[in-house]
Amino acid sequence: MVVLAMSMMCGIFICTMCVKQIGSDSWSRIVKIEVAEQPCNKSLVPISEVQFVHYPQPLTYSRSECMCTPVRFFAIISSQRSGSGWFETLLNSHMNVSSNGEVFSRKERRSNMSSIIKTLDKVYSLDWNSSASKNQCTAAVGLKWMLNQGLVANHADIVDYFNRRGVSAIFLFRRNLLHQLVSQLANNHDRYLRQLNGTHKAHVHTSYEANILAKYKPRLNTSSLIRRLKQADDYTRVALENLKSMHHITIYYEDLIRNKTVSFCG
Ligand SMILES: *[C@@H]1O[C@H](CO)[C@@H](O)[C@H](O)[C@H]1NC(C)=O
Ligand SMILES: *[C@@H]1O[C@H](CO)[C@@H](O)[C@H](O)[C@H]1NC(C)=O
Ligand SMILES: *[C@@H]1O[C@H](CO)[C@@H](O)[C@H](O)[C@H]1NC(C)=O
Ligand SMILES: *[C@@H]1O[C@H](CO)[C@@H](O)[C@H](O)[C@H]1NC(C)=O
Ligand SMILES: *[C@@H]1O[C@H](CO)[C@@H](O)[C@H](O)[C@H]1NC(C)=O
Ligand SMILES: *[C@@H]1O[C@H](CO)[C@@H](O)[C@H](O)[C@H]1NC(C)=O
Ligand SMILES: *[C@@H]1O[C@H](CO)[C@@H](O)[C@H](O)[C@H]1NC(C)=O
Repeated sequence: MVVLAMSMMCGIFICTMCVKQIGSDSWSRIVKIEVAEQPCNKSLVPISEVQFVHYPQPLTYSRSECMCTPVRFFAIISSQRSGSGWFETLLNSHMNVSSNGEVFSRKERRSNMSSIIKTLDKVYSLDWNSSASKNQCTAAVGLKWMLNQGLVANHADIVDYFNRRGVSAIFLFRRNLLHQLVSQLANNHDRYLRQLNGTHKAHVHTSYEANILAKYKPRLNTSSLIRRLKQADDYTRVALENLKSMHHITIYYEDLIRNKTVSFCG
């Protein structure tokens, strides 16, 4: 009887521990995953992947028919004019992938760490409604995030969030910084001139549009050029150094467009 009472007390104690721990730290995440994921058979997921496989339960709609479709969380971390728009379109052409664009282009979503977390939580719970949302079962959900959109400013907290929530990052950058600079200047030029029937297109969708925009040949200030390139290089290098402890792969735009066998699964 005493033993039974003891074990009951222990049971209750453990329960309260569990309830208390369903909160924020990484240990609680383990408890939470086990509780939330019990109905789905995870034995097909390799041990090394378990941390990155999720079964979100959105609040705004029922995901019942896809409940046991595992979901990966990702973020395309990039800088302006590095091909990330094109890359994201490529990912979104898959029926099970939703990459929700530059979610943090809006200042209020990145004004402090709590708004950043709130926004990320919404995206990764599959409650983010955008043109990238799919009717099919989502197998990967993410967003495009530029280094200067609160990412560099909050790097330590964001690394922590990614590691805690099992988010994988895709670092997408450009090897040729001169090309990137030319693209920036051309993009700024078009922002004022609106060469395509009065609309500014940051991303072209036809070769017709590309040819019109490519007619602009920017003049570079050679006396400040080296300094500008060095600044851009330093900014990215330091940023990636600060983000490197997240689970990530690094892709260069130039390799992506030239090499048809780049592997994304690593
Ligand atoms: C989970 O899947 C594996 C492999 O398909 C199977 O052997 C196992 O019986 C399943 N477990 C449950 C609880 O359904
Ligand atoms: C964070 O930013 C949001 C949106 O700008 C604001 O409403 C909120 O009060 C801020 N919170 C803190 C703790 O500064
Ligand atoms: C999502 O947004 C689209 C328009 O962008 C709208 O038609 C649709 O009703 C929205 N869905 C939800 C669940 O809010
Ligand atoms: C993709 O979506 C379809 C339709 O909802 C679903 O049957 C399939 O299992 C999904 N594929 C993956 C890899 O999740
Ligand atoms: C601009 O307008 C003209 C005439 O309406 C049309 O033929 C052309 O395709 C348009 N160009 C673009 C880039 O939308
Ligand atoms: C070129 O850069 C130098 C050094 O930053 C600056 O002093 C100069 O005004 C610039 N020239 C033009 C035409 O913008
Ligand atoms: C293309 O990428 C693959 C995998 O990343 C690599 O093994 C191969 O050598 C690359 N090929 C070229 C031509 O760069």
